[in-house]
Amino acid sequence: MTAKPTILQDLPADLDRERLPKHVAVIMDGNGRWAKRQGLPRIMGHRRGVDALKDLLRCCRDWGVQALTAYAFSTENWGRPFEEVDFLMTLFERVLRQELREMMRENVRITFVGNLDALPQSLRAEIERSMAETRNNSGIHFTVATNYGGRQEILQACRAIATQVQQGHLQPEDIDEAVFERHLYTAGVGDPDLLIRTSGEMRLSNFLLWQMAYSELYVTDTLWPDFDRAEFHQALCAYQQRHRRFGKL
Ligand code: FPP
Repeated sequence: MTAKPTILQDLPADLDRERLPKHVAVIMDGNGRWAKRQGLPRIMGHRRGVDALKDLLRCCRDWGVQALTAYAFSTENWGRPFEEVDFLMTLFERVLRQELREMMRENVRITFVGNLDALPQSLRAEIERSMAETRNNSGIHFTVATNYGGRQEILQACRAIATQVQQGHLQPEDIDEAVFERHLYTAGVGDPDLLIRTSGEMRLSNFLLWQMAYSELYVTDTLWPDFDRAEFHQALCAYQQRHRRFGKL
């Protein structure tokens, strides 16, 4: 039996390789609605969401995008029913365990950002293992925001910097953007050039508030489990039509 060919395996000809975003961020919204439309329980939407994320990661690698950051679980998501939160934590853990070998084979470096201390111990152990094992991989940098909140991230950076000032290691006048960035969860990850949000909501939802100061935003009505390479192609076409000015003329 021959394997089903992946559609759009190579970078589509209408995209300019030189002007691809280096770093793409995604808010993977609409899993629950996707499941409801299929007459399935919400958790099936999350399961299919993992498949969509895995294919996007491969697509980024195939097409030459250097970094992908995905919003997997926000600090606000704890407010969902216990069964759904529990399912998501177990899903993250299982996917990490299953995919580690593949990530090594594909040279992916995985990093988790967020308040990881509050996650279940068994998930934290998988997170630490996957980060340690992939640390020296030189391929695509895949960042997963888990128990992440942009405001909380900024607050914890302020606390850490204030402590350094209090202890005399840092002068207030030395606090600049570079110092601040080093204290964010995303230190070393860099700012996204493009944010994609699925399911039509026009919100940042507390995601990468500092880092997205100059990111281009792309919102599609497509629900996350249906976000495929053709959809990503459209997002990149829209991105390449933008003129990024960073506040200049
Ligand atoms: C939002 O859809 C989606 C989530 C809160 C979970 C996203 C997580 C994944 C796709 C799994 C990622 C896995 C790893 C290992 C990184 P929603 O439930 O808010 O959908 P709705 O708005 O239609 O209700």
